[in-house]
Amino acid sequence: MQDLVLKDCDTFYGKAQALHGVTLSVSVGQITSIVGRNGAGKSTLLKTLMGLQPLSRGQRLMGDNDLSDRAPHQLNKLGLAYVPEDRQVFPNLTVMENLAVSTFAHRTLEWSADKVLELFPRLGERRTALGGVLSGGEQQMLAIGRALLCNPRFLLLDEPTEGLAPIVVEQLVKAICRIRDAGVGVVLVEQNLSIPLSISDTILALETGRVRWAGPAGQVRDTPTLLDEFIGV
Ligand SMILES: Nc1ncnc2c1ncn2[C@@H]1O[C@H](COP(=O)(O)OP(=O)(O)OP(=O)(O)O)[C@@H](O)[C@H]1O
Ligand SMILES: [Mg+2]
Repeated sequence: MQDLVLKDCDTFYGKAQALHGVTLSVSVGQITSIVGRNGAGKSTLLKTLMGLQPLSRGQRLMGDNDLSDRAPHQLNKLGLAYVPEDRQVFPNLTVMENLAVSTFAHRTLEWSADKVLELFPRLGERRTALGGVLSGGEQQMLAIGRALLCNPRFLLLDEPTEGLAPIVVEQLVKAICRIRDAGVGVVLVEQNLSIPLSISDTILALETGRVRWAGPAGQVRDTPTLLDEFIGV
């Protein structure tokens, strides 16, 4: 299966450079975590993968295909789905309506609303509730569910567990592992290491828009202080 790769990428907000020569490789069926402090460039990196931030330099590749110039909707069709930090659930639609608007007819229909409810039983209990009244955890589940209905090969998640109760975090982490087991390549942004250490295959540490360390999560498990310099407070 083809990897999703960013190669030597720069991106800017106006004149301010946000990413400097960043390289990242993501495999299907694996979890790649991006960690780093506030403002390190984690969200920018996800936006750059998704085509929401233009590449000033470097390439976006899927296997041998150069996707550097593709727009977000094209990348979505090619198998990328993105859940932003603010989740963007439709507040005036119910859970089921939120899922319905995202049901795309593309590729094999591996994911359906029923499968999303199986993954997140809580959403089934809340199926007629409006998006706007859901708890943060429920909104996150719905946002991930919506993204899955695009049948992504790669799912980009920006701090999905931020601010959520430990029990909800645990449910989300289990679901992310099941999504990985279904063959999706997950890119997970987290500020700290605890979840990345427990579930990722690969970890990449960013600092001021630069990759400071990237490698197998096992290496960080063996040397827990390895990334302190880049993500410690
Ligand atoms: N829309 C924007 N316009 C201008 N500068 C931006 C914009 N978004 C982010 N930046 C800047 O780019 C840099 C990287 O920001 P980014 O949001 O990617 O960091 P982050 O690692 O996701 O941080 P956080 O942990 O706070 O979410 C920061 O210096 C930030 O101020
Ligand atoms: Mg961010």
